[in-house]
Amino acid sequence: MQNNTFSRLFVGQNIIALQRVDSTNNFLRKELSKSKPIPEGTVIMAEDQFAGRGQHNNTWTSEPGKNLTFSFVLYPVFLPASQQFLLNIAVSIAINDALTQIIGSACKIKWPNDVFYQDSKIGGVLIENTVAGNHLKSSIVGIGINVNQVEFADSIQNITSLKNITGNSFNIRDLMTGILEAIDHRYSELKEARNENHYGLYTGNLYRFNELHKFVIKGAVQNGRITGIDETGHLVLDIDGNQYHFGLKEIRYIL
Ligand code: BTN
Repeated sequence: MQNNTFSRLFVGQNIIALQRVDSTNNFLRKELSKSKPIPEGTVIMAEDQFAGRGQHNNTWTSEPGKNLTFSFVLYPVFLPASQQFLLNIAVSIAINDALTQIIGSACKIKWPNDVFYQDSKIGGVLIENTVAGNHLKSSIVGIGINVNQVEFADSIQNITSLKNITGNSFNIRDLMTGILEAIDHRYSELKEARNENHYGLYTGNLYRFNELHKFVIKGAVQNGRITGIDETGHLVLDIDGNQYHFGLKEIRYIL
């Protein structure tokens, strides 16, 4: 019999709540460098993350006490390094599962793993993997979700929060529990090779999937249609009937 109660959780069974830290990802990275490995699934959450990091060496800013900023460690040694994007898919669809309960099906995954509502970003994910041989050794998964913050710096465009969307305030801990439960579920499926529906869930909830939009590609604006993701996690775009594959630094959305 299947038992999905929180007590069975593997990701999130051990939660360390910090008042203030530079970055929850950095905190876990330091833990991983120690001789005694931190247990898999351990979560570090921070009320005030004062030097949060995003993708492409960006910073991640979050008003203290208002938002969700947390990271957890996994040891996905079963996953070939060449398939590491499967972990990104599992985490992305899990966050989408949890947030869809709150904001409905307008919650989307913007490739590779931004959390979007309509044309605005609600959250992001920073996954930092280490590899040993041909397989993953460890993975630090950092998640930031804008929850109760209602004002953002003018310099940041297309950004919103759960409170801005719904008008309601949320309990940060409960929200994290919901996301961790969803991640635990999707990660178990991945680990047990029961992830055959993950790719369909990912593309089915992908922002601008199969729609014609303008993208900036190598400095030039081009019309294209997202048709999928390849096995290395590159975005596949149909441009004038031909399929092209793009890495993170090769393509930019126009919002
Ligand atoms: C992005 O969209 O660029 C990714 C943002 C990831 C932010 C989270 S907040 C918790 C964890 N700690 C960090 O320093 N970054 C991630």
